[in-house]
Amino acid sequence: MYQDKVFQLIEKETQRQKEEIGLIPSENNVSPEVSAVLASVLSNKYSEGYAGRRYYEGNRYIDQIESLAQARVKKLFAVPYANVQPYSGSPANFAIYFALMDPGETLMGLKLTMGGHLTHGHPRVTASGRFYQSVQYGLDEKARIDFDEMRRLAKKYRPKVIVAGNTAYPFELEFDKFREIADEVDAWLVADISHVTGLIIAGVHQSPFAAADVVMTTTHKTFRGPRGAMILVTERGLKRDADLAKKIDAAIIPGLQGGPHNATTAAIALAAKEAMSRKFKVYGRQIRQNADVLARTLMDEGLTLVGNGTQTHLMVIDLSPISPGLGLQVAYAMSVAGLYANRNTVPHEPMSPFYPSGVRLGTPLVTTRGMKEKEMKTIGHWIAQIVDHIKNQRLPEDRRARRIFIKQFKAQADQDKFLLDIRRQVVELTRNFKLFADEWKIG
Ligand SMILES: Cc1ncc(COP(=O)(O)O)c(C=O)c1O
Repeated sequence: MYQDKVFQLIEKETQRQKEEIGLIPSENNVSPEVSAVLASVLSNKYSEGYAGRRYYEGNRYIDQIESLAQARVKKLFAVPYANVQPYSGSPANFAIYFALMDPGETLMGLKLTMGGHLTHGHPRVTASGRFYQSVQYGLDEKARIDFDEMRRLAKKYRPKVIVAGNTAYPFELEFDKFREIADEVDAWLVADISHVTGLIIAGVHQSPFAAADVVMTTTHKTFRGPRGAMILVTERGLKRDADLAKKIDAAIIPGLQGGPHNATTAAIALAAKEAMSRKFKVYGRQIRQNADVLARTLMDEGLTLVGNGTQTHLMVIDLSPISPGLGLQVAYAMSVAGLYANRNTVPHEPMSPFYPSGVRLGTPLVTTRGMKEKEMKTIGHWIAQIVDHIKNQRLPEDRRARRIFIKQFKAQADQDKFLLDIRRQVVELTRNFKLFADEWKIG
């Protein structure tokens, strides 16, 4: 049984995670304790419903676990209500819309190509874009949220829900400005803080809790917990509608989900405890410092960043001044060199989402491993060298020629001595860093 291929593949993936450097801003490594809880017997149990009112018997300990998770999360964020059952961020966002809007009503969010998320109303191909009338705001010339445009659109289309959230936007979300506009058109303000929760806890990003009615966060990004999500109802939200928490609960079950993932719920309880520690605040501040140093290093090397920097844990390299559509080649070459990130559109993208001109980077995961400013400089130099090495690999104009070009490029990159030499140095560096650094352990 334990010889099964699945275990061999997990072993290989563990090795890959150890000897490569993860720079995807939405990824993180959980503590060994959170990991142990995820592998526990808790996932054997069905418990549709909520604590004290389940549709299945045998939930006396599950009830206590879920209540503990809720109590810790409420304390951590000082909110009156928390639902910890969403399976992940996407269904959590949909549950909020389901609770607050009827199909066909208007939803407003940041455009995907400018740093928003699919679930913020991306048109046509997503449920949020199809079941609701979607209106999308964008960024100005300085790559900041264009609040003037947003206000104009809000007054014209009168959204029922406005989402303030980011997935590739490197600046702080100014929740007060969103609130002003929401008030002008009497909309609900939903803050999707999935990316920046850990920074908010550490006090290095504005808090949404005074401005928003409802706050959603995934639990696996800067929060450094299991894959999951939670929906937090604020005092302001409850003041506007005393039944808001009940509506959110009903949107999760029976609205959208069945049995909660109890191991995840327990792991959220544990991650919330970790997040309450002094060490977590140090961790959040270190994510920011690492991001600043990485951004500075890349710019000193002559690379352009969207908006010329970062105020968060993430940044987007804009490769369009070098060669539009270079994102895929750079992300692939980086992965050959053992540095994995993801290609991304840049604001006002000259190419396409499949062949974009940017690469998105973030520091939560490397910070969890214990890397600091010194390592950020090394990583920044490596990335700059890689970009320089492949800068002439221009994407062909002819669309049909692109597929063949990329195939050939990848085959070449796999054997590229320069990239493989960086990979050797990456593997050497990672030997000094566990997946979860001892310095972040609590208790
Ligand atoms: C801002 C934001 N909201 C929602 C989600 C969706 O979360 P999940 O991938 O857990 O469904 C993401 C994930 O990238 C995100 O960045």
